[in-house]
Amino acid sequence: MSEPVPSVTFPPAFLWGAATSAYQIEGAVREDGRTPSIWDTFSHTPGKTAAGETGDIAVDHYHRYREDVALMAELGLTAYRFSISWSRVQPTGRGPAVQRGLDFYRRLVDELLAHGIKPAITLYHWDLPQELEDAGGWPERDTAFRFAEYARLVGEALGDRVEQWITLNEPWCSAFLGYGSGVHAPGRTDAAASLRAAHHLNLAHGLGTSALRSVMPARNSVAVSLNSAVVRTVSQDPADLAAGRKIDDLANGVFHGPMLRGSYPRTLLEATSPITDWSHLRDGDLEAIHQPLDALGLNYYTPTLVSAASSADASTRRADGHGLSDHSPWPGADDVAFHHTSGERTEMGWSIDPTGLHELIMRYTREAPGLPLYVTENGAAYDDKPDPDGRVHDPERIAYLHGHLSAVRRAIADGADVRGYFLWSLMDNFEWAYGYGKRFGAVYVDYATLARTPKSSARWYGRAARTGALPP
Ligand code: NOJ
Repeated sequence: MSEPVPSVTFPPAFLWGAATSAYQIEGAVREDGRTPSIWDTFSHTPGKTAAGETGDIAVDHYHRYREDVALMAELGLTAYRFSISWSRVQPTGRGPAVQRGLDFYRRLVDELLAHGIKPAITLYHWDLPQELEDAGGWPERDTAFRFAEYARLVGEALGDRVEQWITLNEPWCSAFLGYGSGVHAPGRTDAAASLRAAHHLNLAHGLGTSALRSVMPARNSVAVSLNSAVVRTVSQDPADLAAGRKIDDLANGVFHGPMLRGSYPRTLLEATSPITDWSHLRDGDLEAIHQPLDALGLNYYTPTLVSAASSADASTRRADGHGLSDHSPWPGADDVAFHHTSGERTEMGWSIDPTGLHELIMRYTREAPGLPLYVTENGAAYDDKPDPDGRVHDPERIAYLHGHLSAVRRAIADGADVRGYFLWSLMDNFEWAYGYGKRFGAVYVDYATLARTPKSSARWYGRAARTGALPP
């Protein structure tokens, strides 16, 4: 009889990855034909990011990718999720690809493959070419067709060597933080536009998936990464439960509905009818969006706690959940109040609750049976600092990772088909409106010298990757 497998051991093929995105790490914003994206414009607009910080240099990954890949290999990672800067590849958001832009990603991919690290490409991580925003951005239908063209160009260029593809990262943020609360680029505050944006992001996902499939080998996998919310209510009171269902529709159903089931929740259409008549939803769109997927990516950080606004207590959060805007990212949900969840918090103020990750994985195991799942982002920001010897100790991050990876392992034991985990993030980087103040990296970056130093969490995670089990 074989030895019982300790519960902290993961399946042998489990991917141990880290994730990043182009604007957050690359820098080199004016090199090799790249043009501004909405995040260049936004970060250069006074008052939009902490201390006016921008991604102009970021962590200079564009020039240091070899060093970064070597570091990943040294740590023992087996996968790396990164995104492509659309305006590096297609500067105006339309027309032929720029070879120099594609070449950067080909070099990066080849470097990863040479080190035995599996690349996973995200096509869109929030950096729309500015020209497309000038033409209307995501609230404009044509943007979805432009995305499909871009997906085809990248698929043609890299489909022979990259097997794992993700169309969109967290379209909720693109639509509702970008066009609703305005705390993300392009910074618009128009509830109706945010709902149109959500639909066109769905359409972009569907058309992009078909475009990728038309040019890539059939063995490749196409997925999407959603920040599916774990919505909890302060009580079981019917009004609070209704508030929870409304936010679940606006956070989850608005994307999962069309992508996984081919329809929007009826309750979502009703709740948002005072804001939009949904005339932007055209015949054939739902079929185009509802493409069979090869996997689903889940990004999870913290649960969302709500109640009916009437029963809100004094701890009600600002409407945007970030305290950065007076505009709500939740169209049609003025009757919902948001609350702080209890427990220890990370530097973002987000409570630490690994049970939420288990819950999320089990939900999609039930709702999307047979679809392999990946945790495409999970991690924590802490105020890390080097000690006098230059070492960076981050026991809080190790505890965070241990807790969440244990939750993943528990979900696998409960029957979930989770194939991999991508820690957010490989290294400290530009945390959007928060600038460089929030450090999510397993690798510390000294922003004065751009030197990289693995934190103790990076070593811990590397040991997990090498052994397939969680170190104590
Ligand atoms: C989600 C986003 O995909 C990523 O870009 C961001 O840095 C992390 N969450 C942390 O906020």
